[in-house]
Order: sequence, then C-alpha cells, then structure tokens
Amino acid sequence: MIQKPKGTYDVINDKRVLYLHELLKNMMEAYNYEYFRTPIFEASELFHRGVGETSDIVTKETYDFKDRSDRNMTLRPEGTAGIVRSFIENKLYGNHAVPVKAWYFGPMFRYERPQSGRFREFYQFGVEVLGTSDALADAEVISIPVNLFKLLGLKNVKVNINTLGDTESRLKYKEALMEYFKPHLNELCEDCNNRFEKNPLRILDCKVDANNTLMQNAPKTIDYLNEESKKHFEDVKKYLTSMDIEYVVNPNIVRGLDYYTHTVFEVSAEIKDFGSQNVLCGGGRYDNLVATLDGPETPAVGFALGVERILNALDAENIDLNLDNGVDTYITYMDEAEKEYALRLATNLRLNGFKTDIDYCSRNMKSNFKQADKLNSKFIIIIGEDEVKNNYVTIKNNHTQESEQIELDYLIYYLDEKLNDECDCDECHCHEEG
Ligand code: HAM
Repeated sequence: MIQKPKGTYDVINDKRVLYLHELLKNMMEAYNYEYFRTPIFEASELFHRGVGETSDIVTKETYDFKDRSDRNMTLRPEGTAGIVRSFIENKLYGNHAVPVKAWYFGPMFRYERPQSGRFREFYQFGVEVLGTSDALADAEVISIPVNLFKLLGLKNVKVNINTLGDTESRLKYKEALMEYFKPHLNELCEDCNNRFEKNPLRILDCKVDANNTLMQNAPKTIDYLNEESKKHFEDVKKYLTSMDIEYVVNPNIVRGLDYYTHTVFEVSAEIKDFGSQNVLCGGGRYDNLVATLDGPETPAVGFALGVERILNALDAENIDLNLDNGVDTYITYMDEAEKEYALRLATNLRLNGFKTDIDYCSRNMKSNFKQADKLNSKFIIIIGEDEVKNNYVTIKNNHTQESEQIELDYLIYYLDEKLNDECDCDECHCHEEG
C-alpha cells in the first residue's frame, strides 16, 4: 500500500479548514489587505538570499530539486520571500497604492523532524505590509492574529515582543555577542561554532544549546539599541496599548530567519501540555529584505501563522466551532421512474441554497432513513408516483418525525421558513443554544 509521505497529512472533511480560510478572508477584507498567490516553488536563490544562508530553515530544511532544464528550484519554506519577489518583479512600488498590504494562505514545506504541530507540508496564513516604516504597521500586523484568536474563542494566548533594532544597533549587538561567546566556543555545538563566524545571532536560536545557562545569560538586543530603534519600539508598544492588546517584552525572541530588523514577535498558546507546538504565529519587521533582493529600499513588516497549530489549539481548549450541522434535505424516490424527477428537484433546491443530498443507489425506504440519519438531515423528501403526477412532495421532519404534503411550487418557501425558524422538538436543543 502506498502511504503518504512522512510529515504530511490528509484533510478529510475537517470543516474548520475552509471555515478558517473564509474567516481570514473576511477579516482581510475588513483590514483592506489584498490577496496574493505566488508559486509554490521558486528559484532556490530567492530563499538563499532572502530567508538567509545561516538560518536552519534554508541550510537544513528546504526541499530542493533540479527541474528538467537543470535549474535549481526550492519548494517554498515560507511565504515572505515570494511576496517580496512578486512586489519587486511586478514593480508594485510604482503605481500601486503604497503601502502594499498583502495576505496569503497556502502550503509551505520544511524538511523538519515531524512531531505534534510540526509537519513537512503545513499551511500558513500570512500578511506582509510593504512600503512603510511606521510603527503603526507593526502594531496593526500584531493585532491581526490577536483579533483572530479572539474571534475563535482562544483565550490562553500570550503576545511576546522584542526588537532587534536597525542595522547599526544589530551590528553593535553582533559584536557584543561575539565577545561574549568567543571564550565559550568549546561549550557550544558544532553548528553554533559555524554560526559564530557567519551570524552569531543564530546561536540564540539553536535547538541543541537552547537551555544552557550560557545561552540564557547572553547579551540582550534591547541593551544595544540606538535612539531611533528605541523610539520605534516605544511607538509599537504605545500603539498596541491603544488597541488594548496585552503583550510581554521577551528579550529571548530573536526568530529563526535572517531578515528581521526592529520588531519581532510571537504569539504562543499557554495551554497545558501543548509543548513545542505552542508558537501559533510569528513575524516582524524586515526593512532590508526588498533591497537585498534587488528592489528599491522598502521597509516592511509581516507575520505568518501555522493553520495546523491553530486547529490543535482549538482542540486543546475544547472549542467546538459547531460546523458539523448536517444537510437540510435528503431526497428519496420510491421507484426508478421517479429518479430523474428527484434529480431535478435536488438541483433546484441546491441552486436555491439548500444543502441537499440524494439517494444515489435506489435504496429501500428503511436504508434511506438510516442514510438520512447518518447525514444528519433535517428533512427527508419522499417522491412517489402520486407525488410526480400531482406536483407535490411528501416531506418528513427528521427530528419530530412528522410528515406533510407540500405543493412543489411552495417547497422553497416552506423549507426557508422551517429551516430559519426555531424547531420545537426536544431532540435538537435549538432553544438552549439560542
Ligand atoms: P515562522 O516562524 O518560520 O515565520 O513560521 C510562522 C508560523 O508557521 C510558526 O509560528 C508556526 O505556527 C508555523 N510553522 C512553522 N513551521 C511549521 C511546521 N514545520 N509545521 C507546522 N507549522 C509550522 C515565517 O515563516 C515568516 N515568513 C513569518 C513572517 C512573515 N515574517 C514576516 N512576515
């Protein structure tokens, strides 16, 4: 038997996936962000130059391949680099309204060790705001996941923010880190020794050495900021407060990608036993990336969340979105002669917006009633010879078990009224749910 690749999964009728997409789409309409879709694979160079030669994501986790013309291609490990490439290639810094506010939703690929909440193919929703250095944009970006989690009813989430400062502050910080780690290189893993030369900031992101005290006592970015960087961070905090967003300044957040400057943030779920998957989303400002990828100097900020992690957090908090509410009508027919009539009726009801299913295998009535229960159908429509001849249907309320005969012309109004009306049976509890 052929099995799915390690670290991937099948979605089988998890209605929350499409619901989340729809909810995010509506949210993005309200925030006035534009939908972007960029290719799932890009030239490998984009990620090497963009995401960074020293990040684990690029050095250890990409799916690289050569296409049939011997070009180096990579399945995207994240969405930011592709959006920035598109921004530059389509010259959106020219005539397009600036800042460009993009949102995206799609699969990303990282060759990681699979575990709970960590996949090799996973879905991200993300936003990127290109063309403003104002701290208001940083705060707005942070507000998006916070408000999403509020809408979903996730309560135990914590916003952690930090700042890496601008290029000058980062340089000062880098020197301080090198001075700090130099006498201790033999205590660090081999990867960290390489990181020391290339980008000592990455040492702080090491999964192997994460908990040793050397790491925990390392210099903090916040102590190396110049005035401009301090002001930017103060402004971000001010705007978060004015939106009533609670946050914690966590100096240990440096993020795993090379492109960040100034604000970095993560939102984590404070759910018992949630473990390593607790980071629901992360992002920050990346003022140098557009220029690094040969575009004009363009400040930018964004974030991305892992869809699977949100679903896991909903499970962990026992939040039921009540999306499995069954079909409105299930259509049955007594005989083959009424089958085409039933099919026409199903199409008509579907086009009028009623969630409708039909007997696909000419079952007997007993099996049809069972099937209607499995589909959690609110009504069962029965079509026999007499119904066809006299233009009516027999319709049974599957909760109250009451049957009625309804004229065909009146059926749409009838269903509309019944389905939008509270039913008074004991079974469906609709009164309690309000
Ligand atoms: P990231 O922190 O690498 O940032 O990923 C963002 C989110 O994607 C994580 O917080 C996590 O929820 C989810 N995620 C990452 N890897 C996996 C995985 N293997 N399995 C499941 N979920 C995962 C970025 O990707 C940046 N591009 C975010 C950004 C946008 N920064 C600025 N703009």
